[in-house]
Amino acid sequence: METIIGTDIQVAADLLRKGELVGIPTETVYGLAANALDSNAVLKIFEAKNRPAFDPLIVHIAEVSDLEKYSEHVPALAFQLAEAFWPGPLTILLPKQAIIPDLVTSGLSTVALRIPAHPMTSRLLQTLNFPLAAPSANLFGRVSPTRATHVKEQLEGRVPYILDGGDCQVGLESTIVGFPPDSLPTVYRLGGTSVEEIQKVIGEVRIMPHSSSNPQAPGMLKSHYAPGKPLYIKGEDTVLPDSASLLRYRSYAKNIPIEHQRVLSETGDLREAARNLFAYLRELDQQKTSVIIAELLPEEGLGKAINDRIRRASVPV
Ligand code: TXA
Ligand code: MG
Repeated sequence: METIIGTDIQVAADLLRKGELVGIPTETVYGLAANALDSNAVLKIFEAKNRPAFDPLIVHIAEVSDLEKYSEHVPALAFQLAEAFWPGPLTILLPKQAIIPDLVTSGLSTVALRIPAHPMTSRLLQTLNFPLAAPSANLFGRVSPTRATHVKEQLEGRVPYILDGGDCQVGLESTIVGFPPDSLPTVYRLGGTSVEEIQKVIGEVRIMPHSSSNPQAPGMLKSHYAPGKPLYIKGEDTVLPDSASLLRYRSYAKNIPIEHQRVLSETGDLREAARNLFAYLRELDQQKTSVIIAELLPEEGLGKAINDRIRRASVPV
């Protein structure tokens, strides 16, 4: 099978109706989509990604009213989040309806729901009469794709069609929020919607990313999003080896060739930094150097989520 990159929403819709996979653009990262209500179609996602079958998938829906189609109970706070942030980079965990196959949630009683903000994928979701299960369209454990060619590089021959929606405008996966019983609303994954923004809408939240107590959620596993060569986090007195590629926040370092460096945002714009992160990691990974050394960003707003991805891409020292 040859993987085709195109912009034809009808071709994508027809493949999905036949139970095939399609790479889809979203504002966060590209997804590898299948009919969420068809277990056989969903199974193909796990095969294509080499993903362990215990990892639950996010279900992408077309409109807020779909919340009640796929969730048994939608708390008022969930509606408030949906109103405030959808379409957008936020995923909400809710008790699932029986119509959602167990394979999608890997047997959990909750389902992860989100309305993505990308014009092509919105039209696609509106054309279809089923929601789309889609993890990020990378091989398991690798850097998430933020453009159609990234998907093709990793999944050539494993997916028939990739809808090309250009570069992802947010560049970080969605923030995941849930409502565990007898507890504060909980952020399980930092992402494209900052914790500060969420707190403005629903008040105090608890942050519990990559908890080892939740083996069902490898997106929360500590080592994830890994480039192919070792990535170290720059400390106060890290001596830069000659053969390093550098991921920097606002400025270039002296003594290292400029072509071996990427600056996330010269103006210190965290949105721009998030948008550039994964593409730059890929570029540095492809250079003829032996390591990547990354600088951390300020721990505020999207900086928290960016640092989370850098830490998880790094080797422990
Ligand atoms: O921005 C995004 O969220 C992208 C785009 C394509 O929408 N998707 C994405 O999917 O990042 P994925 O599969 O790479 O990450 C989904 C995360 C995983 O860590 C998974 O374990 C968690 O969501 N998840 C999904 N359903 C869950 C559930 N019911 N309970 C707990 N965690 C869940
Ligand atoms: Mg992923």
